[in-house]
Amino acid sequence: MMRGSNTLIGAVNFVTFLISIPILGGGIWLSAKANSTDCLRFLQWPLIVIGIAIMVISLMGFAGACYRLTWLLRIYLFVMFFVVVALLSFVVFAYAVTDRGHGQVVMDRAFLEYQLSDYSGWLKDRVSDPGYWAKISACLRDSRVCPKMARYGRDSTTGLLVPEPAVLFYQRHLSPIESGCCKPPTSCGFTYVNETYWTAQPGTVVNDIDCTRWSNEQHSLCYQCGSCKAGVLASIRHNWRKVSVINIVVLVILVIVYVIGCAAFRNAKRIDNDEPFGENRMSKARPSRFQF
Ligand SMILES: *[C@@H]1O[C@H](CO)[C@@H](O)[C@H](O)[C@H]1NC(C)=O
Repeated sequence: MMRGSNTLIGAVNFVTFLISIPILGGGIWLSAKANSTDCLRFLQWPLIVIGIAIMVISLMGFAGACYRLTWLLRIYLFVMFFVVVALLSFVVFAYAVTDRGHGQVVMDRAFLEYQLSDYSGWLKDRVSDPGYWAKISACLRDSRVCPKMARYGRDSTTGLLVPEPAVLFYQRHLSPIESGCCKPPTSCGFTYVNETYWTAQPGTVVNDIDCTRWSNEQHSLCYQCGSCKAGVLASIRHNWRKVSVINIVVLVILVIVYVIGCAAFRNAKRIDNDEPFGENRMSKARPSRFQF
């Protein structure tokens, strides 16, 4: 029976070890994506930390069960409890800070438009903070998201490479960052030249402050626009929601594992107490016993 409990805890920890791999993977995936698109390296840290924590804890439980180290198993159950709480907090937090805001559909455009006024709360304040935004926008520039949007076609008369025509550009499904940061908002009514070069129509009344923030200077574009911040927020929301799905699945499995772990311990303890005196003393000589 004792051996059975240990085998169970060992097996269960092997499973949690396997679970920690996709969590860590999710964090690393986010960081890889962050490098190329949304420059939000700080966001995947909770995931990487939780992934590493589960990995270490399951190795602890596995080693504790294999080498029958009671103290290690006790620490294991204690720490595991906090990981479940941390994971639950992360899921709740991710949903709470990203509950509002989404792109808006515009006539004759396949892509969505983003407005900062659609967003609110802690994450918006964090992203909009001037010091923080300076870092994010510098990172967006360095990631070259906008220049990478360039697509060319051949001019039918001259045979030269020219930017893709406006009609085709309007049918593209742009990412929130591309839509918010690389082009002026559609409401400005600017004329398309290429993806990141737009000319203002003389005499048009502009009522969106983002239209005045737009610059054809290829290092500026709409990086200071509210639409860019909104695009970044939309991107965070999208990525966090995806990662949260993984987290919820992991959370459910961890809770089951935790309950099994606790039950196995209680079982082991009960069997220990029920054993006849003589056998119990003999068993104390072996370090393999659980003593609770
Ligand atoms: C758009 O045109 C500008 C000015 O000619 C050029 O500097 C820029 O590289 C072009 N951008 C893209 C994405 O093609």
